[in-house]
Amino acid sequence: MAAFYDTRMPQAVGLKCATLLHAIPLLTPTMTLSIIVATDRERGIGINNRLPWRLPEDLAHFKRVTTGHPIIMGRKTFESIGRPLPGRRNIVVTRNIAWQHAGVECVSSVQEAMVLVQTPAAEQLDSDASAPAFIIGGAEIYRQMMPFCNQMIVTEIDKVFNCDTFLPALDMQAWRETAREAYHCEHNNCGYAFVTYERVAHAPN
Ligand SMILES: NC(=O)c1ccc[n+]([C@@H]2O[C@H](COP(=O)([O-])OP(=O)(O)OC[C@H]3O[C@@H](n4cnc5c(N)ncnc54)[C@H](OP(=O)(O)O)[C@@H]3O)[C@@H](O)[C@H]2O)c1
Repeated sequence: MAAFYDTRMPQAVGLKCATLLHAIPLLTPTMTLSIIVATDRERGIGINNRLPWRLPEDLAHFKRVTTGHPIIMGRKTFESIGRPLPGRRNIVVTRNIAWQHAGVECVSSVQEAMVLVQTPAAEQLDSDASAPAFIIGGAEIYRQMMPFCNQMIVTEIDKVFNCDTFLPALDMQAWRETAREAYHCEHNNCGYAFVTYERVAHAPN
């Protein structure tokens, strides 16, 4: 499968050093903060505020991986899904202080979201503080939260789709692949793989 990341430095793709410095003290060392995303060969992730493809196996994978864990998303991704996802703590980031939705915790910055996932919800006071939390998109939230994350779970779809929203380019020297499961999708006539990347220690992006 073709590599879909480019290897430019984070500064070249818009991640500012100030963001990186602010990221460091916000995450406790034991916590896994993971991006979960499906992307095509050109890092496309969305079109018209929805997914560009139909891949039920990926939705099942997403559900399997994220159930029982907090999920952080941008307001547009929440509107695209249309409801809180069951069995998960739903955290939505928005600048609109009036925005609210039943079953959702709303925050006004990504930093606030970071603090919240490390604070157990009232009904989960005995929960494991080191259990993973997932950033589930979309592009704006991936871009801003990437520096905080120490894991990425990526569905790499080996095809190009019509997209208007893209995952930011990454410095792949900062990540190492630790697991890969490859499959074929009859419906889209292409390969896809569930790939796990772990951040290389001390690498900034
Ligand atoms: N392929 C995948 O795995 C995947 C996963 C998720 C989403 N997607 C796709 O991605 C697309 C949506 O992505 P997107 O980038 O357009 O939107 P998004 O990241 O989902 O949401 C953007 C919104 O988040 C809020 N926001 C962003 N930064 C913020 C900050 N620093 N502080 C406070 N609020 C902030 C703003 O909400 P307000 O405007 O309310 O202030 C902003 O409009 C859709 O096409 C969706 O289907 C794909």
